Amino acid sequence: MPLLEAHGIKKSFARLTALNGVDLTVAENEFHGLIGPNGSGKSTLMKCVAGAEIPTEGTIRFAGRDITAVPPAERARAGLSLKFQITSVLPALTVYDNMLLALQAQNPLSNLIFSRTRGPLHERVLHTLDQFRLADRAGDPAAEISHGQQQWLEIAMALAPEPRLLLLDEPTAGMSLQERRLTGELLIPFKRRCSLVIVEHDLDFIRDICDVLTVLDQGNVLESGTVAHVQNSHKVQEVYLTRV
Ligand SMILES: Nc1ncnc2c1ncn2[C@@H]1O[C@H](COP(=O)(O)OP(=O)(O)OP(=O)(O)O)[C@@H](O)[C@H]1O
Ligand SMILES: [Mg+2]
Repeated sequence: MPLLEAHGIKKSFARLTALNGVDLTVAENEFHGLIGPNGSGKSTLMKCVAGAEIPTEGTIRFAGRDITAVPPAERARAGLSLKFQITSVLPALTVYDNMLLALQAQNPLSNLIFSRTRGPLHERVLHTLDQFRLADRAGDPAAEISHGQQQWLEIAMALAPEPRLLLLDEPTAGMSLQERRLTGELLIPFKRRCSLVIVEHDLDFIRDICDVLTVLDQGNVLESGTVAHVQNSHKVQEVYLTRV
């Protein structure tokens, strides 16, 4: 059984059809790239999966459960986590405290009140910051780290609840080539622990980390399959060579 199964997703905004019957299937431990020209519906599909938008038609099943109309917080409890284009780090707090907050959010309130979690959490904060090459910036306000480092902090925070599926919408936007490469290296170890759906315009980046690609074009799936299959698709080549 796939982890995520979105079937026949339609989403209209007034008279505009952003998604016109899209299917998306993601297996456990699969890294799935979502690509396509601007306005093709990538973010809208991600929002439908995350619960920020409810599809006009279609169904979304996650871990065997119909979540089509389930509120975002309940999806999060079921194992969905996301990082969107908009930043969610608290700039005045240190990198350490941002990470601590993200890890605390998964602990029951009673643990926090009796603050027995602070010790083990301290180790986890340091370990996670180290994994994302942020350990030496732990004491700095998040506002002072680079744009790329802020993106890594957000990804680390999104992974804090140990989700079964992570959704990333253009996490490398505004990054240098070197930062993008490093982002791929930071994500790959998580293939053992969760699935990923990632929207990206950088095709080299997506080829390097994804197993499967889905290409959207004007609200429809143009192609879906292995990276090699999609790369050799004439339909995809036509869209990318003539229109992007
Ligand atoms: N809340 C909204 N209200 C009205 N129209 C919207 C809304 N959200 C998206 N759209 C429209 O739906 C279409 C798909 O948008 P979407 O943001 O999903 O595209 P995208 O593939 O993520 O594009 P990009 O690569 O530029 O991020 C676009 O025409 C967009 O203008
Ligand atoms: Mg988008």
